[in-house]
Amino acid sequence: MSNFKLKKPLRHFLDLAALTPEEARQIIEKAKVLKATATGEGQGKGFIHPDRPLADKSLAMVFEKPSTRTRVSFEMSIHQLGGTAIVLQGNDMQLGRGESVSDTAQVLSGFVDAVMLRADSHESLLEMAAHATVPVINALTDFSHPCQVMADVLTFEEHRGPIKGKKIAWSGDGNNVAVSWIHAAVLFDCELVLACPKEFCPPTQVLEWAVNNGGRVTLTHDPAEAAKDADCIITDTWVSMGDTEAAERIAILAPYQVNRKLMQEAKKDSLFMHCLPAHRGEEVTDEVIDGPRSVIWDEAENRLHIQKSILMWCFGK
Ligand code: CP
Ligand code: NVA
Repeated sequence: MSNFKLKKPLRHFLDLAALTPEEARQIIEKAKVLKATATGEGQGKGFIHPDRPLADKSLAMVFEKPSTRTRVSFEMSIHQLGGTAIVLQGNDMQLGRGESVSDTAQVLSGFVDAVMLRADSHESLLEMAAHATVPVINALTDFSHPCQVMADVLTFEEHRGPIKGKKIAWSGDGNNVAVSWIHAAVLFDCELVLACPKEFCPPTQVLEWAVNNGGRVTLTHDPAEAAKDADCIITDTWVSMGDTEAAERIAILAPYQVNRKLMQEAKKDSLFMHCLPAHRGEEVTDEVIDGPRSVIWDEAENRLHIQKSILMWCFGK
């Protein structure tokens, strides 16, 4: 009978483009409160929220690709909210032997209250969401990385106040993180200028979506133009998980490195962000990533606090 049970409306967290600006703002604001509660003087990381808001909730975390930050921050998130996580490597599952994503979705839905998926292909994420009867969370696909960019927005606002109207510059590959930044620029009403080589631009339909939704998102091939007077410069690896032709990518992307010269184009107090892992000496120099304007460690830690807020939102709390 389970194949025929009625699905109640589910709050999947698949892409920022599917959120309203109000929902996105609510998630950021709740993350700020959850962070304040969890980071009091002398508080251990194993802290559990006194209200245990997700005490009866469980999360399956499925990884088809490696992870450090996403894995640890999601597991600690649900722990801090009083719930339970199960970590599953795709290759250790029957999924890795060919069981379909749709069958896996239905089986997991009978065991747990939400599924987090880091997928090789965005199609798998959509298939998981189409067949699960519990919320599904995008923990990175080849197309987007929405949890990361919500943590980035939280980090920017902690350091520089409201992001609305600020100029964010992206220099490098127009990859999955760049796509989620394009979505975020529309939701949070900031200016986003992406500098990408013609070979590695973000998908045209995502840029068109931004423009059609009133976004101030532009694309250039000139990193200095993007960085000019920016409030924050962001980059990411030139070779993402699943990318091939690494040497060719590195050669084409070399002019987009974030270094001292590029940072000088930005505002004097401009931040530097990177989702990590970084390839020092490629997309960013040591001097910048370890410099006073870099907020990468806060950005990484904020994955924990934003994920708690995303989980709460998925459960309607
Ligand atoms: N930034 C990020 O998602 O890192 P991991 O690949 O370590 O999860
Ligand atoms: N663009 C990178 C992000 C890693 C967190 C990748 O997909 O490998």
